Amino acid sequence: MCGIVGYVGGQQAEQVVVDGLARLEYRGYDSAGIALVVEGRLATAKKAGKLINLRKVLEEEPPPASTVGLGHTRWATHGAPNDVNAHPHVDCAGRVAVIHNGIIENFAQLRAELTERGHVFESETDTEVVAHLLEEEVGEHGLAEAMRRVCRRLEGAYTLVAVDAQDPDVVVGARRNSPLVVGKGVGENFLASDVAAFIEHTRDAIELGQDQVVELRREGVTVTDYDGRPAEVREYHVDWDVSAAEKGGYDAFMLKEIAEQPRAVADTLLGRIGADGRLHLDEMHITDEQLREIDKIIIIACGTSYHAGMIAKYAIEHWAGVPCEVEFASEFRYRDPILTKSTLVIAISQSGESMDTLMAVRHAREQKARVLCICNVNGSTMPRECDGVLYTHAGPEVGVAATKTFLTQLVAVYLIALYIAQVRGTKWGDEVFAMVQLLGSMPEKVEKVLETMEPVRELARSLADEKSVLFLGRHVGFPVALEGALKLKELAYMHAEGFAAGELKHGPIALIEDGLPVIVVVPPRARDVLHDKIVSNIQEIRARGARTIVIAEEGDDSVAPYADTLIEVPAVPTLLQPLVTTIPLQVFSCELATAKGHDVDQPRNLAKSVTVE
Ligand code: F6R
Repeated sequence: MCGIVGYVGGQQAEQVVVDGLARLEYRGYDSAGIALVVEGRLATAKKAGKLINLRKVLEEEPPPASTVGLGHTRWATHGAPNDVNAHPHVDCAGRVAVIHNGIIENFAQLRAELTERGHVFESETDTEVVAHLLEEEVGEHGLAEAMRRVCRRLEGAYTLVAVDAQDPDVVVGARRNSPLVVGKGVGENFLASDVAAFIEHTRDAIELGQDQVVELRREGVTVTDYDGRPAEVREYHVDWDVSAAEKGGYDAFMLKEIAEQPRAVADTLLGRIGADGRLHLDEMHITDEQLREIDKIIIIACGTSYHAGMIAKYAIEHWAGVPCEVEFASEFRYRDPILTKSTLVIAISQSGESMDTLMAVRHAREQKARVLCICNVNGSTMPRECDGVLYTHAGPEVGVAATKTFLTQLVAVYLIALYIAQVRGTKWGDEVFAMVQLLGSMPEKVEKVLETMEPVRELARSLADEKSVLFLGRHVGFPVALEGALKLKELAYMHAEGFAAGELKHGPIALIEDGLPVIVVVPPRARDVLHDKIVSNIQEIRARGARTIVIAEEGDDSVAPYADTLIEVPAVPTLLQPLVTTIPLQVFSCELATAKGHDVDQPRNLAKSVTVE
């Protein structure tokens, strides 16, 4: 949450910074602002609301030319999302401008001290204390050393970037917990929360570590720890280009990202299935010996990633035969889980930055558990703090609602479950082998679902005025139902709830009334008991007036008589079914929200990467 950009080089900084912010707007869109260094002074502009509001301000009053600057797009934590609280924040002398992502926990105490020393505050933000603290240090020490001194006094999780009006060749950043990457150019350098901000200029990046300060000049980049000692960093090359970070002809990133799912699934499988039909996941950095020793798996995640974790539990317990628990990271972190060296904790996070999951990872590691993460963002915090990582290769996901990253997380959890089964030689040897082959064919199945989505779009438009939609599923269809409800809530701002179909009669069935749309995810026919049970559940709700919208495998004529609307998906084994049943639900929410006039890429109150607890 909050997008940060810094630039020093030969181009017009305003352009580079504002274009970079446009690619980071998914991180927060409560306000936006920039600061440029112009002949010994700062030129700032900031505006509440989306970036477009700032662009208008800049058009009406173009700032002077400058080659050094920074910019910010905000997801509000301290202080209302208005013009005054928008970043950047500037010290009393107008010398230092600073932007910030995260929370400074001891800001109240620092603010009181600074006020006592005569500083006058303009905003309600925690960030402004940093501008005033830097003001006290910069004259004597220069901006980089001032930043190190200030960071030593800050508590909490933050990324900071600052410029100094008196030094037109420097941008300084500091990183603790929330992301910050350097883009290395020729005669120019960039800083951003995400490589997407500078990908059109350079694909060479440096990942900054925890508690590091970076000094960016035209001709070089220096990274130290908070005490000024040279720090070790990881340089890497970004393997996707600017087109991946643009809409490419679609009206919304979400539409593009839904459409990209066959490729995303294929890329996540790439190189992981050997010619001999066996899986190769050596990149996880967890040895076969260690995998043989584990006696319990705990999955921690939030939101959509948590739903991937729920599906993982079914796959892991079935194929790998290892007991598996799934827990919201925010709950796991504040209890006393019983972990040992034989516990494998799997953190699932597309961004690799969710603070709840990151804190849960640290909690697990403190207790000596081995921690593996599934992540989509190279250079993010979680992979560097875990013992191993399995990257999903969905490419950048800009739409705030997770779509292609969810499908690739499913691929990753299937790979892990099947790999553990392969290593441990479970009784499902033949099935495991067959599943690996089937996984290889999933991109075509996903493609096939996408080709048949027009009736789903029509259905969504026809339900745009409904007050509420319920979702039902059993087994892995249950997390799919939860995911469908989450998508509808976050995009269409509608009441939506997912239930385990078997639980319906224990209470929620009271919600059913005439005409209430209920979407039901039906397992494959081959799972006869499970299948027949849910067909009974459909009959029960239909008898009470529900409008039944049924997602079932093609050719399942046993369910058709009870479906007011039938959505068919390709036949695949039960455990893999979420890869095809989730897609109609994504399309449904996206279309319904669009029909209601909502911005599906930037739903209200949300941000893509939640870096506060
Ligand atoms: C929903 C959504 C969120 C995220 C959650 C975790 O569409 O995107 O629920 O899944 O905030 O984010 P990551 O996976 O980045 O940890």
